[in-house]
Amino acid sequence: MTRPLVIAVDGPAASGKGTIASRLAAHYGLPFLDTGLLYRAVGVDMMSGGRDLSDARAAEAAARALTPDRLSDPSDLTTGDAGEAASRVAGIPGVRAALLELQQAFARQPGGAVLDGRDIGTVIAPDAPAKLFVTASPEVRARRRWMQLNERGDLITYEAMLADILRRDERDAGSGAAPMVQAPDAVVLDTTEMDIEAAFDAARRIVEAARTR
Ligand code: DC
Repeated sequence: MTRPLVIAVDGPAASGKGTIASRLAAHYGLPFLDTGLLYRAVGVDMMSGGRDLSDARAAEAAARALTPDRLSDPSDLTTGDAGEAASRVAGIPGVRAALLELQQAFARQPGGAVLDGRDIGTVIAPDAPAKLFVTASPEVRARRRWMQLNERGDLITYEAMLADILRRDERDAGSGAAPMVQAPDAVVLDTTEMDIEAAFDAARRIVEAARTR
């Protein structure tokens, strides 16, 4: 029997991991979960309920109340504020624990799945046959995210975006129950000098090599 193709795509904010992961999912006909949306939904639900983002009990309750259909219209989850809120609640161990089973169930689907996030290859699916760690320089990541947000009318300066990316990296790396670390068996894909076509092509080759191992 062929092994389910679970593809774990981790990396920092705006590294290109989301686009690469969704393209891989389309290419292999696999279901795709952007796990950052789960943390974003917890942050947004906390803010709309008037909760303090550091209230660990309320955040854990918001995480436990999440169902996959909360992500069906992610338009309120992709704003800069939602990303900032997500980064804060993601450091709360009870939130990570509450979201664990949902993510692991998604990864266990019979044919496999593609998940992107920060701890997919280390915590959620440590046995995934294909693991990528997608990265790019902070300046390039800030420029990409800045262009995305500006296109949508979410006005922010490039300098503020870069500061935001650096702050987010520091928080994701240092705090919380699952700081962002690269799985030892993940293949690093640095997209600093790549456009999306080149990055997807490189990612596909990494997955093909992992499949034949
Ligand atoms: O990838 P993103 O920008 O949508 O993620 C938003 C925040 O959620 C990010 O600051 C880190 C956190 N996150 C996490 O801790 N673990 C994940 N698997 C996914 C996201």
